[in-house]
Amino acid sequence: MELPLIKLRSVGDERGFLAFLEENEEITFQVKRIYYLFNTSEGVSRGFHAHKELDQIAICVAGSCEMLLDDGGSRETFVLRSPEIGLRIARGIWREMHNFSRDCVLLVLASELYDEEDYIRDYDEFIGWVNKA
Ligand code: TYD
Repeated sequence: MELPLIKLRSVGDERGFLAFLEENEEITFQVKRIYYLFNTSEGVSRGFHAHKELDQIAICVAGSCEMLLDDGGSRETFVLRSPEIGLRIARGIWREMHNFSRDCVLLVLASELYDEEDYIRDYDEFIGWVNKA
């Protein structure tokens, strides 16, 4: 799996920090949707799906969480705990999110509008889809 972590640009001074992403730099797709997970209940895990055509970048802008990425051949867990780090989640990658801190805000930039048809929510189906591709 290609290392999906992106060091984001940020400017800081005595007032604090400001981080940013720009199209054709950190963002390699047209952003059609932004969503964020917040107030996640303790012990809850989310995700457990892949997308056929959706590219995303996730940024843990507050708190921390873990993102497991699985390309059908190998899986790797990334701990997100910095607002200066982005995680690319390319199409065709199974993802699970675990261990959300109470204050976690996970911001996601997405290349397409919400479309339930684009989801693969069954792991065995995901493996079959990967092997067919
Ligand atoms: P989902 O992507 O299934 O998140 P998770 O796998 O973490 O549970 O989304 C949860 C619900 O939110 C689902 O009913 C669809 C809805 N939803 C939208 O309406 N728009 C969106 O942009 C997203 C991401 C989800």
